[in-house]
Amino acid sequence: MELGLTGRIAVVTGASKGIGLAVTRTLAREGVRVVAGARSSSPELDALAADGGVVPVAVDLSTPDGPATLVAAALELGPVDILVNNVGAVSPRIDGFLAVTDEQWLATLNLGLLATVRATRAVLGPMVEAGGGSIVTISSVNAFLPDPTVIDYSATKAALTNLSKSLSKEFGPRGIRLNTISPGPVATDLWLGTDGVAARLGAASGSDPAAIQAAAAGQSVTGRFTRPQEIAELVALLASDVVGNVTGADFVIDGGLTTQT
Ligand SMILES: NC(=O)c1ccc[n+]([C@@H]2O[C@H](COP(=O)([O-])OP(=O)(O)OC[C@H]3O[C@@H](n4cnc5c(N)ncnc54)[C@H](OP(=O)(O)O)[C@@H]3O)[C@@H](O)[C@H]2O)c1
Repeated sequence: MELGLTGRIAVVTGASKGIGLAVTRTLAREGVRVVAGARSSSPELDALAADGGVVPVAVDLSTPDGPATLVAAALELGPVDILVNNVGAVSPRIDGFLAVTDEQWLATLNLGLLATVRATRAVLGPMVEAGGGSIVTISSVNAFLPDPTVIDYSATKAALTNLSKSLSKEFGPRGIRLNTISPGPVATDLWLGTDGVAARLGAASGSDPAAIQAAAAGQSVTGRFTRPQEIAELVALLASDVVGNVTGADFVIDGGLTTQT
């Protein structure tokens, strides 16, 4: 399907690996110039930059100025058409709610919610001025599947989805579409890395991380984790005018893990 994205300019947060890297690669494939933010680059992101069309920016998006710095780098190329709010992180709260400190809550909210608030705030003015744009935010099934093991992450994702829906109402009449994607478990370092959810839950319970991964995969109908590329293809579609009347919507990709009626 021709998405008509050639020549557009995008900002992707959390772009050095995982879902953000797949989104960056996919948008670049569609002819989009992508400004890709992470604290540090990666060999894969460097390779995309070497091919042209992708500009890596080293930035800590948990800082108050980080998201606006990233957006400013993109605005140097021209009007930003697409923002993908992807950055986020999770820390399993093995010892329960009572052990989660203010510092831990604030760190999760800073990266998981405020980085998106700040990037979106930085991009919306220029987008409105340019007459339109598409903002896609990577939320999680935990937005509506509250989980005490990731209690601050779940609450943050609920806020993120809510934020996107509110903004779609305020900015829709000015040509901006905002949508969220809510994945279940995805095969990235967040879940499967050496410090990922499977490794940390495994260490806490004395179980093999592979068994924890298999149990999580077994909860979905398809029996597997989603691939980052499967998220990236939906991001590209939502970024395009092909689905120009889709806004304020949430798209679940979880292999049938959750049931919505
Ligand atoms: N994987 C899943 O199962 C899953 C499920 C549902 C939703 N999600 C959501 O999908 C999004 C991406 O997750 P992922 O699985 O792709 O994670 P990931 O593999 O851990 O990648 C995270 C990316 O964010 C960057 N990052 C982390 N902290 C940063 C900071 N302070 N400033 C700038 N960049 C930062 C990382 O690069 P640096 O470390 O170099 O900064 C990396 O590029 C998150 O919002 C996550 O909540 C993931």
